[in-house]
This record gives sequence, C-alpha cells and structure tokens, in this order.
Amino acid sequence: MPVALPIGRKRLERLRGEAHRLLAGNWRQGSLADGTPYGFTCPSPPRYRHQWYWDSCFHAIVWRHFDPPRAREELRTLMRGGRLDGFIPHTIFWHDSAGWRRAPFYATHSVRGNRATAHMQTPLLALAWELVAAASDDDPGFAAEGLDALRLHYDWLARHRDPDGDGLISIIHPDESGLDDSPKYDAVFGWMTHYRPGYFWLVERSRRLRYDSHAIIARYDEHVEDVLVNVVYALSLHALARLSGDDTYRQRAERTERALLERCWDEDRGLFWDLAGRGHTPQRISTWSSLAPLALPSLPERIGRRLIEEHLLDPRRYGAPFAIPSVSMEEPSFRAGWHLFRCWRGPSWINTVWLLAPALRRFGYGAEADRILASCVELVERHGFREYYNPLNGEGLAARHFGWSTLLIDLLPAAVGEDPEHAGAPKTPRLGAADKSRSFRGSVREELWSMGAEAASETRRRVARALTGTRSRSAARRRTAPIRRG
Ligand code: GLC
Repeated sequence: MPVALPIGRKRLERLRGEAHRLLAGNWRQGSLADGTPYGFTCPSPPRYRHQWYWDSCFHAIVWRHFDPPRAREELRTLMRGGRLDGFIPHTIFWHDSAGWRRAPFYATHSVRGNRATAHMQTPLLALAWELVAAASDDDPGFAAEGLDALRLHYDWLARHRDPDGDGLISIIHPDESGLDDSPKYDAVFGWMTHYRPGYFWLVERSRRLRYDSHAIIARYDEHVEDVLVNVVYALSLHALARLSGDDTYRQRAERTERALLERCWDEDRGLFWDLAGRGHTPQRISTWSSLAPLALPSLPERIGRRLIEEHLLDPRRYGAPFAIPSVSMEEPSFRAGWHLFRCWRGPSWINTVWLLAPALRRFGYGAEADRILASCVELVERHGFREYYNPLNGEGLAARHFGWSTLLIDLLPAAVGEDPEHAGAPKTPRLGAADKSRSFRGSVREELWSMGAEAASETRRRVARALTGTRSRSAARRRTAPIRRG
C-alpha cells in the first residue's frame, strides 16, 4: 500500500542523510587485546557507550539501507559477544568498561572486570539477521553463516528460560525486555524494580545464584512471561525457520503464538497481559507491550481489530498526537514527560511505531499508520533523533542522536515524489539550525547539561501545573464558598 505522507524527496533525503550521519558517528570499531575484532553502533555516547543487544539489531536493520557490510558487522559482533552455549548478553562492554555512573545498574557476574552482562534482552537477532541477509547480495553467504550460532541461541532460550515448557520464555530482570521501568513490572518486582534501590539486591541475588534461571524461577516469584519478549521470540523463531529451512523452529514459533492467545489474551479487556511468578498471575496494566501481538501475522483478525480500535487508535488510550505512548494514557501510572531513570512510563519511542505501524497497515488502517508516521517525521524534524518524545506535546526527550530512532527510515518509502508546495516548512526549525546549535556531540559535560535542561524544563512544567491547579482550586473554592451574611 502506498504511503501517503506529506513528505517529499528533499525532506526524505535530509532525514536519510541525518540518520546515516548519526549511525556513522556512533560507530565504534577496533579489536580486543586478544585480537577479537568488533564493530557496532553505540546507542548514544556517552550515556550509552556499549553494545546493547536489541539496539544493535535495530541499528543493523537501518544500516542495511545505507551500508550492508556495516549491518552485517554489527550483527556478527553481537553474536561474537555471546557464549559458546548460545547465551548472548544484554550489554557487551567491548572498548570501554562500564562507567562509574552506570556500572551499579549492570547485571554482571561480579562488580568489576566483566566483559558483558549476564542477562539477556528481547531476542530479535534472528529477525534482524534475516532482514540484513535479504539486503546482502554482495555477501550471499551471510544467511547461512549465522545458522549454527542462531540455533544455539534460540535453543538456549528455550532450555533456560522456559522451565515450565509452556512455549513462553521468562525474564528474570525487568530490563531484560528492554522496557526497564515499565509500570507493568511495578507489582511484580516491587522494591526491586528497575528504578528503585532494591534493583541492586535483585542483581546481587541473581549473582549469588550465578544467573541460573531455573533456580531463580523455582525459588522466587519475581519473573515474568513477558508479552513483548514472546512476540519477538516468535517472530524470530519464524525467521530462523525460513533461514534454516528447519520446520521445528516454525512449530516452536506457533506454540509460542498459541500460548500467547490461550494464556495472555483477556477477552473482557481486549488486551494481552504478562504472566508473573510461579502462579502465572496476569499483570493488568495497559502498556504498548499489550498491543505487541499485532506484529504477529498469525493474529486472528477479530483480536487485531479489537486491539486497534479499542486501544491503539482510541484518543483516551494510545491515540496521542505524537507517535504511540508506551503506556495507555488512561493508566494512573502514565507520565508523558521526562523523569530521571524512568523512560517507559508514557513517552513515545520510535521502535514501538516500527513494530506496530506495519500491523496497522496489514489490518487495513493505512491512513492511521500514515498519520502516526507523519507525526514521527515531525518529531524528528523538530528535535532530531532523540531517545524518546512526549506523546502529548512532541517534545524531544533524554539522549540525543539516539541510534534506534533512525528506524523511522525503515518505515518510510525508499523514494517519494517532489515535496508538495503546501507541505511547507514545519513551524519549528528543522534538523540543522536549532538542533545543531544545541546538538549533543558526546562529552560528559554536554550530557549533564542536557539532562539538567530536561530536569529544569520538567520542573518548570510541574510547578506551572501545580500553580494552575492551586489557582483553579482556590477559584473553585471561591465559587463554592458559602455566602456569609453579615
Ligand atoms: C535504555 C532502554 C533499553 C535500551 C538501552 C540502550 O535502558 O530502556 O531498552 O536497550 O537504553 O539504548
């Protein structure tokens, strides 16, 4: 279906140019002391200087449009960072050890001296591998080259993360899904959730059990069969089946899809819920993860339409002016703006749109997908490729020059007509002028400055909101105050 976006050739080329420059600027390559080579895109230096699993998959998916050899190197490096038994870490510290500010947050085996974390992240690798292989006419062996390691990886996941054998894999730390502080984990992880002090204890507890997921899952209730993780797992198993021609991976994917429908779907609420703990307790908090099964081509149409019409497009829930909020706007935990260490409690992320917008098109909601994409183009033209954005006012938030926000390029058509006259320039300055003058070039000083600026603007907004609230409350009191008679 053609994309009816109000964007013409010049604007598209500018966006592609900016995305390519960003990825090239964040590219890190070299070799370890033992000669092991690496080449990957860090998400956003200096805040995110290492290699993150799902970020790298997203980066490779975009790199394939500009430079397929780099896309392949990014995925090969990720695979190289894994263990021989098929485990691939959430974060790999290739060229740089974990910095003082972030080191305490990393789920490593010991406090110091680690080359990677000991926990996983949403397993997108086989899907990314397939997409990159399809863009690799210059290296036709790439598809087959990864098969043994991919098999090992997805077998490791089944063996270690699905102890009850129901087809749904579990995460044992909230950030293993990549949705670190999502409110859907608040009740499960409680004081040990990602942004609370107890997270350190969660890490310590896993260390003591050597990250043995069977032992952790059997002994504790802080683990989740996560909907997003399992959707991506199923998509990747399908990709692996196509890449390898091995039908058992397709059967495993279908088993996961069936389990999502049978165990996570809530017919009354029309949403999918994560299942927590040994009792498989549904976590009834509406986050974009509840909509993620839309990405499964096998999803029954009736369920897809309910997710879309009752949730994704509902202006009270996910139908925000800018992109797709990470939490339903109706949830009491929804927060649109920036919070220190909290990022998945409302703001819109581009990877969400990457997963859900094609599904909207598939179900026949092309105009709505175009509207969402157009809002993303506007976000990036106004504020650059930021880590996330305020879904209500479109403000760009947190890290600048953030790698996976370039996924927007993967959603836009490769070629479009000339810019229509009426499309005009956006009201606020485009990439370049304003953003460049404040652009984030990578020093710690600048990062602290940008975090400070975000904190100040959030505080300003809250004070303004509180004052407006106080004023309107006292006006209301005046209106309702009993009339005293003298
Ligand atoms: C944040 C995100 C996570 C991502 C990481 C690196 O922690 O929550 O999903 O992988 O940053 O960009």
